[in-house]
Amino acid sequence: MQATKTIALALLACLCAGVQAAEGNAEAAKGKISMCIGCHGIPDYKTAFPSVYNVPKIGGQHPQYIVAALSAYKRGERSHPTMRAIAESLSEQDMADLAAYYGGAK
Ligand code: HEC
Repeated sequence: MQATKTIALALLACLCAGVQAAEGNAEAAKGKISMCIGCHGIPDYKTAFPSVYNVPKIGGQHPQYIVAALSAYKRGERSHPTMRAIAESLSEQDMADLAAYYGGAK
């Protein structure tokens, strides 16, 4: 009986965490995008560091894709140095908010 209860609680915790991670707030992102618009706000912009990169367009991307990409930079699975440094400073809530903002942008 006790085991069933524990499993039920664990499941509930998973569900809540899942819902929380998925809930981005585009309004809240407006105070955070100042870190991004220098590069991602300009169509066809290229950054010159550490070599010349095309900055990908993130406006209109699927929010889950944006969160996945940011998490991958944070974990070091993606290696671009600037994006890694930026993603390291973002919380999961920041990522969800930014994803909601950019995912909803045209
Ligand atoms: C200094 C310029 C710069 C800044 C500032 C910057 N980015 Fe980036 N971003 C890039 C570049 C360049 C890439 C492509 C890197 C690569 O090839 O992995 C990239 C890639 C990404 C990707 C992956 C896109 C894809 O299609 O795979 C996401 C998502 C992203 N940035 C989000 C953000 C967010 C959100 C912010 C602000 C918190 C931000 N970036 C700030 C330059 C920047």
